[in-house]
Amino acid sequence: MGGRLSFSPAVAVLCCAAAALVATGLGSPAQGCYSRIFSFGDSLTDTGNYVHLTASKSPSPYGEPPYGRTFFGRPTGRASDGRLVIDFIAQELGLANVTAIQVGTGPADFQHGANFAIISSTANNATFFAGKGLDITPFSLDTQMLWFRTHLQQLSLQNGGGGGNVLSDALVALGEIGGNDYNFAFTKGMPRETVRAFVPAVVDKLAAAVEELIGMGARAFVVPGNLPFGCAPLYLQRFRGAGAGEYDGQTGCLSWFNRFAEYHNRVLTARLDALRRLHPDVTIVYADWYGAMTSIFQAPGKLGFTNVLRQCCGNQTVPCGKAGCAVCDDPSTYGSWDGTHPTEAVYKVIAGGVLHGPHAYPVPLAKTCPPPS
Ligand SMILES: *[C@@H]1O[C@H](CO)[C@@H](O)[C@H](O)[C@H]1NC(C)=O
Ligand SMILES: *[C@@H]1O[C@H](CO)[C@@H](O)[C@H](O)[C@H]1NC(C)=O
Ligand SMILES: *[C@@H]1O[C@H](CO)[C@@H](O)[C@H](O)[C@H]1NC(C)=O
Repeated sequence: MGGRLSFSPAVAVLCCAAAALVATGLGSPAQGCYSRIFSFGDSLTDTGNYVHLTASKSPSPYGEPPYGRTFFGRPTGRASDGRLVIDFIAQELGLANVTAIQVGTGPADFQHGANFAIISSTANNATFFAGKGLDITPFSLDTQMLWFRTHLQQLSLQNGGGGGNVLSDALVALGEIGGNDYNFAFTKGMPRETVRAFVPAVVDKLAAAVEELIGMGARAFVVPGNLPFGCAPLYLQRFRGAGAGEYDGQTGCLSWFNRFAEYHNRVLTARLDALRRLHPDVTIVYADWYGAMTSIFQAPGKLGFTNVLRQCCGNQTVPCGKAGCAVCDDPSTYGSWDGTHPTEAVYKVIAGGVLHGPHAYPVPLAKTCPPPS
């Protein structure tokens, strides 16, 4: 979940970065109908920001082999063995290489949008957690929104303050985010019901970001819910003393934590319904990551998984990415890559369900386009 570090937004590198994008007009999408993707989230979506920002201070295991070995053949800063949901979505929409905002260096890097997601990010900011005795991470959705506003400002400055709105034909991928608000609290041993009371504040943060982005011109969103984290090896190990009654008989997952994720998702989907009513001209797709991943836990063999409740890489003594960590032969048969994060194989199933159904509401993402202005 990432170590501590002081926060210094490396936005300066973005100077001049997006000039070409605006100067040459907004361009036409290579395929599909979105011109770019702006993405926000945590370790389930980060494609390099965290490892880039922390590299000089305390190199992160996420930047070490065998991370990245299945697809990229090297660590890329993704907390998995290969591609994430955002990579599969970008690929499908013809927008490969949505560059991590801290990693891009030149104008060409941001032609297809930018990824603001960062490992360890919470939805709520430090003020929320300090009031609860949790002093956890310098990165929040507010941090990412700050980077985003700076990025947009630079685009606009480069264009003499005028020009088209880069958001009007963009897809905004907002999340998954909020999982860490709960993870960190559970890790600190906070009582379950106290953590449950965080849910409305997390969903408020997400809704506020949607509202702000709509105000800036965004017209299409995909918003994922939480995963069934009661099936994650991290939780299964931490709560391994749990009584038999705590486990789901069919999947072997910890029922209470999965019900917690379902509760978060219910509050989130109700809020998205309200946002759709307020903004009938905006497309908002709920991405049911929970349902997609649950389909794997309920029938692993059907999809080629043989070790759904196990991690492929590392263990509690020698975590993945540390020298000498153990790694399985075939990650595509595992549910978890490193105990906390899914394998590429799982992400592929989730992305398929979101893009083509049935794990998207009200329509599969691949069937959407930015609404006409
Ligand atoms: C995406 O980035 C990789 C690595 O930087 C590069 O090899 C590849 O050509 C890029 N793909 C596209 C479609 O730009
Ligand atoms: C932190 O979050 C609170 C609640 O959403 C908000 O009022 C405050 O402005 C935020 N602080 C920063 C520094 O973004
Ligand atoms: C954890 O992995 C290390 C490195 O492969 C191994 O030596 C050790 O036995 C493992 N520990 C457990 C409890 O499996």
